[in-house]
Amino acid sequence: VTHDQKAARSWTGGASRRRTTVDEIVSGIYRIATVERGGSVSFNQFLIDDERPMLVHTGQHAHYEQIRAAIAQVLDPARLAFVALLHFEGDECGGMDRFMQEAPRAQLVASTLSAALNLARFPWRYRVRDVRDGDAVELGQHVIRVLETPHVHHWDSMMLVDETTESLFPSDLFLQPGDQPPVVHEDLGRDMCEYYAQAGIFASERPVRALLDRLVPLDPAWTHAMHGGSIPRAALPPFVDALRQRPFAYRGKLFGRAIAPPPT
Ligand SMILES: [Fe+2]
Ligand SMILES: [Fe+2]
Repeated sequence: VTHDQKAARSWTGGASRRRTTVDEIVSGIYRIATVERGGSVSFNQFLIDDERPMLVHTGQHAHYEQIRAAIAQVLDPARLAFVALLHFEGDECGGMDRFMQEAPRAQLVASTLSAALNLARFPWRYRVRDVRDGDAVELGQHVIRVLETPHVHHWDSMMLVDETTESLFPSDLFLQPGDQPPVVHEDLGRDMCEYYAQAGIFASERPVRALLDRLVPLDPAWTHAMHGGSIPRAALPPFVDALRQRPFAYRGKLFGRAIAPPPT
């Protein structure tokens, strides 16, 4: 599968309303991106092809067939060993039931909080590996390290780092709106902050900025945003600067809809 694989780029499903593409970004890491026609962001999953393959985010329930077909271009979805949920929301977790049913040996990888607050309290009966900061999940060639990132978006949020390819999986951090190419070199830091502020997905800048002090020394070669494109090392600093300098937290708007009274 290459960046030029046009066959994967046709609009399909739901009256040609959405398109799913597959691109290998760096050795063994595939970005599976779904864009709705007229949608404001892409929804990306990352497939790590290894002895014990991992899917990072499942995608939405409604996107399952296309995402499954995209995975099948790389490997048999029944081989999935890990399905990682970086926080509990429909775009991260909506497809988990069917991926877990099809892959009999798979485990859900979730933060201890996600496992305790969500997986254990809804009627899910899946095999769960709950992980904490510093834990490692070994895929074979790739070693995946866990960063717990509470209140960076959600209470139960975590991020993953693939030590083998120096890849950060930051879920909704470093989002870029629009239909972006698989690899983004452009400075879209301002667009990111404006999108965050109108969507209202971070309660405060503070936990995000504290986390940047952990992420920047990691100096990731790749930052695989869940919405947008993957950001190579040289293109990341403007995004970090934007998060440090611009306001982006909730200021009384949820997806552009004003809630009164706004916080002071
Ligand atoms: Fe989210
Ligand atoms: Fe997301």
